[in-house]
Amino acid sequence: MAVLNIKTYGANILRKKAKSVTRFGAALEEFVQDMFQTMYEFKGIGLAAPQVGASMRLIVIDIEEIDPAYPPLALVNPELSDFEGDVNAEEGCLSFPGLQGFVSRAQKVHVKAQTPKGDPLEFVAEDWMARVLQHEIDHLNGVLFIDHVNSDELESMEPDLQLLKSGEIPRGEST
Ligand code: NI
Repeated sequence: MAVLNIKTYGANILRKKAKSVTRFGAALEEFVQDMFQTMYEFKGIGLAAPQVGASMRLIVIDIEEIDPAYPPLALVNPELSDFEGDVNAEEGCLSFPGLQGFVSRAQKVHVKAQTPKGDPLEFVAEDWMARVLQHEIDHLNGVLFIDHVNSDELESMEPDLQLLKSGEIPRGEST
């Protein structure tokens, strides 16, 4: 296993639509383990493949500390439907170290995906799992959480965003 480099705001790949995964097997499973290790190393609760430089529709999530109902998950080619409800809460992103912003997300979503072995997987996610899924799947479409924060908050984040773009880490909380 290996800790991978995380692409921070300004990296082009974060704005690209990721490609569907078509090859399953040992190499993919090994990459998934690297993604988990990287997420844990940086104390994240979710990570999408484009954040480690791979244009692949693949995400890993572990919110067990927030909601033990959900085991750690690796989802390939995930798709959401049946969005219900609306919850506003503060979230961060490993590609924006030190930054947080309020984002409205559906409270409940239906998820359809494949496992890293290629098996189909379907479930309903609520609350934080629904939020993290929406955040991570946004990454697969080149959408970032700052695209959802309101304009006042975005304006107040602007100096830190400029720092990130120039390759520096803003001095905030590191989450
Ligand atoms: Ni993120």
